[in-house]
Parts: sequence; structure tokens; C-alpha cells
Amino acid sequence: MAESIKDRYSYQFSWFTRPIIQYPQDIVAFQELVSSVKPDLIIETGIAHGGSLVLSASLLCLLDVMEGLDPRKSPRKVVGVDIDIRPQNRKALGEHPLRFKMELIEGSSIAPDIVKEVSSHADGVESVLVSLDSNHTHEHVLAELNAYANLVSVGSYCIVFDTVVEDLPAGSFADRPWDVGNNPKTAVHEWLKHHPEFEIDKEIDKKLLISVAPDGYLRRKAIVV
Ligand SMILES: C[S@@+](CC[C@H](N)C(=O)[O-])C[C@H]1O[C@@H](n2cnc3c(N)ncnc32)[C@H](O)[C@@H]1O
Repeated sequence: MAESIKDRYSYQFSWFTRPIIQYPQDIVAFQELVSSVKPDLIIETGIAHGGSLVLSASLLCLLDVMEGLDPRKSPRKVVGVDIDIRPQNRKALGEHPLRFKMELIEGSSIAPDIVKEVSSHADGVESVLVSLDSNHTHEHVLAELNAYANLVSVGSYCIVFDTVVEDLPAGSFADRPWDVGNNPKTAVHEWLKHHPEFEIDKEIDKKLLISVAPDGYLRRKAIVV
């Protein structure tokens, strides 16, 4: 992981034309989760070039087709939030054939008005999956978990990306505020102390071996404990 991160390995891939900043193993794990959970709504923080949004949109379309639904008419959708949706990314997503499955919201994922707007999409929705992949500091991810994890339905997942920062050599992200001791994994571990209704799905970690989200696949096992 340390060697691959130095070479910006995760910046080489795309999903149906949009760059996706993920490791292929995590993309496959995401697909397996979506196909088993069958969410009606996916909430994603961190859009960047839109690849992960297009991934979600395409998987939701597949779920519709497999259930005999017309993807254009089914209410399934992905809601993405990013503090900075760059004009070229907004344009490319605007022209994407799967745009009809996506809602884009611009603003900080932890700003109260944005949390309210994003959460409103989950009103009355049976099955919700959440993916957190925006600012990777401890404080920000903790605030995102507090804002969005409760929207996750029982049996579904909150996926917290870039927990791997904790396992890499200190200083691996010299130009970023996160590092060992201050990252998504430290946030997950602190948050889980108060949220026994979620558990880390270690089977996913054991299977993937190579992943940016070790301890980040959080399964909701109960409404509240
Ligand atoms: C790692 S990229 C997301 C990658 C994307 N999920 C993918 O798989 O292609 C992180 C994104 O988070 C956004 N971001 C940073 N701080 C944020 C915040 N406070 N709220 C929402 N988005 C934020 C950045 O603008 C950036 O586009």
C-alpha cells in the first residue's frame, strides 16, 4: 500500500468514462455490497471527478433491471455531496448518460444545512447505504459519521474510505492534514465505542487484503442497541 500510494495508484482508473479515485478491490467490494443490500438510496460524500457516483448510478440501474423496473422511472438514486464540484466535473456528469440517477449537492458534508438537505432524500426510503470519502481528518469523519450513519438501514453499510492512512508510514500525505493518529480509522474506532449497533465487517478486509478501507466497512446490525 505504501509503495502504491506514493505512485498515486488510485488515480489511474475510471468507471464508465469518469475517473474514480479508488482501488479496484474496493470497487469490487462495493459492487458486492450493493448487489446484496440492494439499496434504494446511496449517499456519497466526496464526488471529485464523479467516478464513484457513476459507479453507484450504474449499479442502481442494474438492480432496477434485475427487478424488472425501468431505471428511468424507479426512484433509486445516488446523492453525492462535495464542497467543490469543479465546472468541468459538473459538465461531464451533466452530459453523462446516467445523470438521471444522480443528485449533486455542493457544500460541506458536515454543514447543518447540507446535512439536512442530504438527509431529506432518505425520508421514507427503506434501504440506504452510505459512503464517506471526502475530507479524511478525524474530526471531519467523526462529524460525517454522526450526521449520516443513522440513515443506514439495518443490514446495510456505512463505508468509510481511507482508513488505511492509519496503517501507512507517518508523513505519507505531506500535503494533507490527515496522518497517522488523525484519519478516518481513528474516527471509526472512536465512533464505534458509542455505536454498538454497527460492527466492522472483518470478512471484507480479510478477503480484500489490499484496500484503502480496512476497518471501514461498517455493517449496521440493529436499529439501536
Ligand atoms: C478522494 S476525493 C473523492 C473521490 C470519489 N469518491 C471517487 O471515488 O472518485 C475527495 C473529495 O472530497 C471533497 N471534499 C473535501 N472536503 C469536503 C467537505 N468538507 N465536504 C464535502 N466534500 C469535501 C473534495 O472536494 C474531493 O472532491
